[in-house]
Amino acid sequence: MIIRSAEFVASNTEPAKCPAPNKPEYAFIGRSNVGKSSLINRLVAKKKLAKTSSTPGKTQLINHFIINEQWFLVDLPGYGYAKKAKTERSKWAGFIEKYILQRENLICMFVLLDSRHPLQKIDEEFLTWLGENGIPFSIVYTKADKLGKNQVQSNIAVIERDLMKTWETLPSRFLTSAETGTGREELLAFIEECNQANTF
Ligand code: GTP
Ligand code: MG
Repeated sequence: MIIRSAEFVASNTEPAKCPAPNKPEYAFIGRSNVGKSSLINRLVAKKKLAKTSSTPGKTQLINHFIINEQWFLVDLPGYGYAKKAKTERSKWAGFIEKYILQRENLICMFVLLDSRHPLQKIDEEFLTWLGENGIPFSIVYTKADKLGKNQVQSNIAVIERDLMKTWETLPSRFLTSAETGTGREELLAFIEECNQANTF
């Protein structure tokens, strides 16, 4: 898919105030610092569209971007940020869960997992919650540039072996790097395919 335009639309904590759900939508989620905002910027080739930071907890709102005037990309706050107060964390759960459960045009959640680390409990629990609620998702491994190819492949094998303890089949998976652009074409092709199957 060719990206012709990518524009910020709105930031929200209230799902009801999000842009009208009249276009296919894809949301990025995962632990704080996993690389959600960076990957969005790489996908649309606009370095400063979504705000990024080396300090976890940068993205705090539901951020809508419109791509090619045809579909929405959504950058969400990360989960599992240990330093956050408990009240902050439950607030996170509140509005993000509501967004995920209620957003009628949400075609697929991209759940980002750091390719350097084994599957974390919080990721496993989040995936299970998605499954229980029938929310379609894909898995996106991030930061592929940080390790050698063999190391990445063996880490992914360990993650997927763990996932297979819970899941009979795995959804689509993508190996990506916001640094080098690895996986960008594959992810965009997947979105394009979904867009074609879901006209609003
Ligand atoms: P929150 O908004 O805090 O939940 O984080 P996030 O998941 O949006 O992460 P963000 O994109 O802000 O990136 C976090 C840090 O990881 C930044 O320092 C990025 O430069 C770095 N980073 C993200 N993706 C990559 C990648 O593919 N390769 C490398 N080397 N660094 C990356
Ligand atoms: Mg972010």
